[in-house]
Amino acid sequence: MNILVVGSGGREHTLAWKIKQSPKCDKVFVAPGNGGTENVAINLPINIDDHNQVKSVIIENGIDLVVIGPEVPLVNGIVDDLKAATELKDLKIVGPAKSGAMLEGSKQFAKDFMQKYGVPTAGAKIITEANLKEGYEFLESLKPPYVLKADGLAAGKGVLITKDIDEAKTNLTDLIVNKKFGDASAKVLIEEFLSGIELSVFVLTDGKDYVILPAAKDYKRIGEGDTGLNTGGMGAISPVIFADKAFMQKVEDEVVKPTVKGIAEEGMDYTGFVFIGLMNNAGQPYVIEYNVRMGDPETEVVLPRIKSDFLELLEAAADGQLGEKTLEVEPYTASTVILVAGGYPESYDKGDEITVKEEVKSAIVFHAGTRKDNGKLLTNGGRVMAMTGLGKNLAEALAHSYAAADQIKWKNMNFRKDIGFDLKELGQ
Ligand code: AMP
Ligand code: GLY
Repeated sequence: MNILVVGSGGREHTLAWKIKQSPKCDKVFVAPGNGGTENVAINLPINIDDHNQVKSVIIENGIDLVVIGPEVPLVNGIVDDLKAATELKDLKIVGPAKSGAMLEGSKQFAKDFMQKYGVPTAGAKIITEANLKEGYEFLESLKPPYVLKADGLAAGKGVLITKDIDEAKTNLTDLIVNKKFGDASAKVLIEEFLSGIELSVFVLTDGKDYVILPAAKDYKRIGEGDTGLNTGGMGAISPVIFADKAFMQKVEDEVVKPTVKGIAEEGMDYTGFVFIGLMNNAGQPYVIEYNVRMGDPETEVVLPRIKSDFLELLEAAADGQLGEKTLEVEPYTASTVILVAGGYPESYDKGDEITVKEEVKSAIVFHAGTRKDNGKLLTNGGRVMAMTGLGKNLAEALAHSYAAADQIKWKNMNFRKDIGFDLKELGQ
């Protein structure tokens, strides 16, 4: 089979790398890809927001199966557009249609869905310009911290949390009246604060059956000890010590089953991943959010732990045959450490030359913001590369990730030295 992975980050590099391992795989393409994806695949330099360009490369390259990596094309209906093309009637697609992508595209839609299907989640109220006063009053009625969420997509920046009531009110005004995120924040969810420890659970579904992939924990803040600004993710670990058998059984019964049932009952056209952001509050799972794709950097630790033929799983999902599949998982621990550009997540330079001191043998190197130019490898984004280490335990996996990080250099490179610190405190 010929496979196309749509996207250009570490997630897409990992997807291409994993798919390539399948005996069923002939050629892998990544559109547009990055400086690392071309080591495992053929990059197709197109604009993925133009769905016609995606359609054209699928036809030109005889693609049998396409996986859509990021959320924006999904929420914008790329799957609907591909399905509408008669020339592509035999194409296998992994990614939900627009109706399903609403689970990530609108926090209100997701909250209504969770409430309807009894999925445990924080209580919330939806506020717009028309009931702004009610919003301020609702904030007064809550205990701090106050959680405000822009309804639409805001590149991972749409959640504002503060302990200060006046700041919470200012945030509400900024979001709705000053349109901090444009139309995406015309509606805002004010949500009860959930305490506990977070994890990410990934489900592959064909809309009726599912398999649960290994759970992971990501590290979103720029600073050590989980401090400072939010980023796209500074590292990740899988497995997660507190996601034990009893907890994961609860997740399956109370979260995954009602979610997949809801997807089926709502008649959503849903083939693909459901990324469930969960809070573990004293052993009870609560859903923070749904995403309709794999996580990044979680993919960089989840896929290396999958023993089963991943392409076969994707094909089964696209064919509606997932009920016949089970998942085999490697027993080892995976960690990934993200190397970022100095200054990220605020302003940072691009185009710096990356040097690799010695061939990196201790870890798998996945690229995110890189590009090649005349044989040179250059930075091309805030999150530049992921160092995925494997080991018999967390300490060994991390040692491999950090040994790899030591081999890579460019001007102002930065990374967190404490990935997994909280799991170590819990005894992992
Ligand atoms: P999201 O963009 O929905 O993933 O939210 C970003 C981050 O905000 C999450 O990873 C959580 O750390 C935090 N968060 C979101 N909602 C809540 C909540 N209700 N209670 C506590 N933390 C939350
Ligand atoms: N790691 C969080 C995300 O992919 O949204």
